[in-house]
Parts: sequence; C-alpha cells; structure tokens
Amino acid sequence: MIFKFFAPCLLLFGASACFAAEAVPAPAAVPDTVKMPVKPRTLVVFYSRTGHTRKVTEDLALLLGADVEELIDKKARAGMSGYLGAGKDALGEKLTELGPLKFNPADYELVVIGTPVWSWNMTPAVRTYLSAHKAVFGTVAFFTLSGKTAPDKIVKKMEVLTGKTARAFAGFVDADLKDQNRAVYEGKIRAFADKLK
Ligand SMILES: Cc1cc2nc3c(=O)[nH]c(=O)nc-3n(C[C@H](O)[C@H](O)[C@H](O)COP(=O)(O)O)c2cc1C
Repeated sequence: MIFKFFAPCLLLFGASACFAAEAVPAPAAVPDTVKMPVKPRTLVVFYSRTGHTRKVTEDLALLLGADVEELIDKKARAGMSGYLGAGKDALGEKLTELGPLKFNPADYELVVIGTPVWSWNMTPAVRTYLSAHKAVFGTVAFFTLSGKTAPDKIVKKMEVLTGKTARAFAGFVDADLKDQNRAVYEGKIRAFADKLK
C-alpha cells in the first residue's frame, strides 16, 4: 500500500519531494544590521617603483584583511633618466599625476600608506595622494621602504601634510626583504600589524 503511493511519487518528483512531508518553517526576519555588507575597515595604499613597497603592502594587507590601492605615477620613472627625475622631483616636493583610483579612502576607518624613500622624502605619488585626500582620512598609519634612511623624518612630513598623527608607523629597509632576514622581517611586520588591529 505504502509502496503503491511512493512508487509513482518517486518516479514523478524524486526522493526529496516525496519525503519532505513536514512543512519547513519560514526563516526568521534578518535584522537590518546583519544585512549590511561587510567592508574591510582598513585600506593599504602604496606606490612602488621596484617592488619592495608592494611586497610589504601585500604582506600587511593579508595580516589585516585589508583592501589594497596601488598608486600609479603617470610620469615615467624607469631607467636612469626616470631614476634621476624621481630623485629630483621628490627632493623638490613635486606633485605628479596619478592613474585612476579603485577605492575611496573616506569609506575606511584606517588608511595605511606606504612609500619608498626618494632623496630623504616621500615619493611624488604618495605626496599627491595625501594632498588630495587629507580632508577625508579617518585614522592614518604610515610605513617607508628605504635603502637605510630611518622612517622618522619622512613620517613627520607625512603627518604635517595630512594634519594627522599616525596611529603607528614602521620603516623597512631593503635588507629586511632578503631571504636570510626572513625571521626578523616577519617579526617586524607582525609587530606593525598588531598596532593597527
Ligand atoms: C630616486 C631614488 C632615490 C632614493 N633615495 C633614497 C634615500 O634617500 N635613502 C634611502 O635609504 N634609500 C633611497 N632610495 C632607495 C629606495 O628607497 C629603496 O630601494 C626602496 O626599497 C625602493 O622601494 P620600491 O621597490 O617599492 O620602489 C632611493 C631610490 C630611488 C629610486
């Protein structure tokens, strides 16, 4: 008798339809706060000519679960003439033209900005970004990449330009990124990330 009922049912509708006898209760209404899209609270912005600042940015963004904005300097910076122009422009505190941005820094609680050191200064790309967006930054943090120059004076200039005190800052040097210094580098970047969480 039971088989007589289920056999045609199974043939026509499949097993799930035949055995789903109990009505499934409607899901409870989801509060609006839960429906809000989850946005990372941190944006890491960087400029990099030869990849060091990019590497630190990528590691930091992974540790923080942050979005990443790469600044594109439209002025040619490659080769010897690019190098010389870069040093001169940074020393002269010149601005530059940036490519289009993907993210609005006003959407983030914390914006972390990384720059290579050029002639003891921030790069023109980072200077341009800071000048253009200083009015909308919430909390900021900075980091530098250099051959050996300490971050303090460059960070001070970034603070003066934005009118903001950095929540934290860090200075990385090219030697930090060598394989033999991996443990030291990891300690350094984790310590920096911990101050930003
Ligand atoms: C034009 C120019 C000027 C530089 N000036 C300095 C400097 O004043 N002090 C320093 O320690 N390193 C200096 N450097 C080295 C870079 O800061 C360093 O190699 C950095 O890691 C490069 O970052 P990037 O690979 O993200 O471009 C300079 C590099 C360039 C291209």
